[in-house]
Amino acid sequence: PDAACQTRILAAKASLGKRLVILGHHYQRSDVFQHADFTGDSLKLSRLAANSEADYIVFCGVHFMAEVADILSRPEQISILPDLAAGCSMADMATLARVERAWRELKTVLDPDATFTPVTYINSAADLKAFCGEHGGIVCTSSNATKILEWSFARREKVLFFPDQHLGRWSGHKMGIPLEDMVLWDWDQPLGGLTPEQVRKAKIILWKGLCSVHQMFTPANIQRFRQEHPDGQVISHPECSFEVCELSDYVGSTEYIIKTVAEAKSGTHWLVGTELNLVNRLAEQFKTEGKTVQFMASTVCMCSTMARIDPQHLAWCLENLVAGQVVNHIKVPPDEAVLARVALQRMLDAS
Ligand code: 13P
Ligand code: SF4
Repeated sequence: PDAACQTRILAAKASLGKRLVILGHHYQRSDVFQHADFTGDSLKLSRLAANSEADYIVFCGVHFMAEVADILSRPEQISILPDLAAGCSMADMATLARVERAWRELKTVLDPDATFTPVTYINSAADLKAFCGEHGGIVCTSSNATKILEWSFARREKVLFFPDQHLGRWSGHKMGIPLEDMVLWDWDQPLGGLTPEQVRKAKIILWKGLCSVHQMFTPANIQRFRQEHPDGQVISHPECSFEVCELSDYVGSTEYIIKTVAEAKSGTHWLVGTELNLVNRLAEQFKTEGKTVQFMASTVCMCSTMARIDPQHLAWCLENLVAGQVVNHIKVPPDEAVLARVALQRMLDAS
């Protein structure tokens, strides 16, 4: 039962003391989130993992986040994901084989004269971060993507951006790149469905990936809210479609969303385009200040993989640590970790 799990988690945490740090992403369910020592968006959590002194970093988030914690921490530190089924469907849309094929075809067939930087959203597997490390590329998160694109264009002419087309398009747009200079790479098509002429004209080649949660938010949701609350404000995550971002008053990472709503005046109305657990938490937290916070979609859409981390799995992995056993250890192969770290470090230095 959940209540018993909460007691077991607290007891295990007390017994492990400073040897343990629990990092929690903002999309975690409340009964897990409450046990996190530190919470944040992907960038903040990466920095926390890199600076942690704990022996065990238990990551309440998804698989790529626990991989980043392993890559950025010292070799003797242990990164743990309470449920190995907590993946990210967007991250799975870019595989190393598909990206290597795109890279080869862009550089040998579609535009051999151009120079490209591979940029991977942090929502990707460690082997893709290693690919970027090896090929002069870099990692970005939802809070620094524009800055990372500027870093990339200061070095080479074009960018291959994966896996999230929406973050890439919105960040390119914010840099002033026209939409027609961003083309979509469809991994199911020969040569990505692109012609040499299209690639020669393009500045950014966007991978076709997207987030199944954020694609649920639509311009109609925003228009309805604006009719009901003409003075209301709309804030969205950059994984939402271009149309949703364009209609929003603010666009930014989960940490940015929290900060913006927290700093708003009392009595304001907010429509928030991001995952339900975070929006519910904001609504609860700020209702005493007279702020109303509303979820953007009319249907319940949660990140089902984030929700895999439940109190039962957390209690199980912590109790194993107390017993001297490590379960669900996330260990990136050392050769891959070295190269992935290069791409992550470029990002941390550039942001
Ligand atoms: P943030 O880095 O903004 O927290 O986003 C992570 C994520 O997976 C959003 O879907
Ligand atoms: Fe991945 Fe979307 Fe879940 Fe974020 S919300 S972890 S991008 S599936």
